[in-house]
Amino acid sequence: MESPLIDKTVELLLAAKHAIVLTGAGISTESGVPDFRSPGGIWERYDPTMFFIERFLADPEEVWRCMLDMNRSSEFSLWDARPNMGHHALAYLEEAGIVETVITQNVDNLHQKAGSRHVIEFHGNMLFARCMKCRRKYGYEQVLSDIETRIPPRCECGGVLKPDAVFFGEAIPQEAMKHSFREAEDCDLMLVIGTSAQVEPAASLPLIAKGMNSIFRGLGGIPLPKGKCHVVEINREPTPLTGHVSDFLIQGSAGEVLSLIEEKVRRRRD
Ligand code: APR
Repeated sequence: MESPLIDKTVELLLAAKHAIVLTGAGISTESGVPDFRSPGGIWERYDPTMFFIERFLADPEEVWRCMLDMNRSSEFSLWDARPNMGHHALAYLEEAGIVETVITQNVDNLHQKAGSRHVIEFHGNMLFARCMKCRRKYGYEQVLSDIETRIPPRCECGGVLKPDAVFFGEAIPQEAMKHSFREAEDCDLMLVIGTSAQVEPAASLPLIAKGMNSIFRGLGGIPLPKGKCHVVEINREPTPLTGHVSDFLIQGSAGEVLSLIEEKVRRRRD
């Protein structure tokens, strides 16, 4: 899908002094991991309240059983998913020194599996679990073996293990929040890829990059004075950012668009 907007994005990437990327579930759908709000998405198949922290505290066994079902009976599994050409393209742009940081809302570890090293996990990582008593961290393989004998899985100290993803009602990890907001303030280019931009505070990051304070969000985003920062969306459909915050939307598949961008950047650098 050739597009002048793809060429423009390549120029912006090559000229940027501090380019960052914000990703959402849309970058992982081509790895077979459904997103949340598209037709057939996760919130159509599973009750979102299952991932409210109050529900986990009240009945961790029920939530663990739901997660096992999500990863075993349905056609996708977070644990076995493989990165797609979109993840690999971003890993290349980082390795080429063009993209500094990927801030991801995803908990699927696919950016890391693709080789991205500078990844801020804004909503944590579902491939790990943490003890709610002593905070010790476990990989999912250890959890799966423990879960064979007892559910919910437990730490050696006896504490209940919780997936290391941010549940609704939980705070964003402090380091991730601080670091992401600083990146958004400092960047001169932000690619926003595969997110419906509906969930705060992640959805405020593009506004911060543009110098708009998110409290103006409902008023159409009155830009506050700030250095020039370009925000480019790559998404299957327009979002609340389109036409208000982002410079433009490249409407299409993240994998296809990003691999085209990678190909053009490689050609320009050879
Ligand atoms: N290429 C480009 N865009 C895509 C693709 C694709 N292959 N597949 C889906 N999309 C788009 C969808 O059209 C949608 O606009 O990606 C967006 C995904 O939006 P959501 O499903 O809302 O996912 P996300 O924005 O990441 O959700 C944010 O909400 O439920 C919480 O914690 C969860 O991190 C998640 C947060």
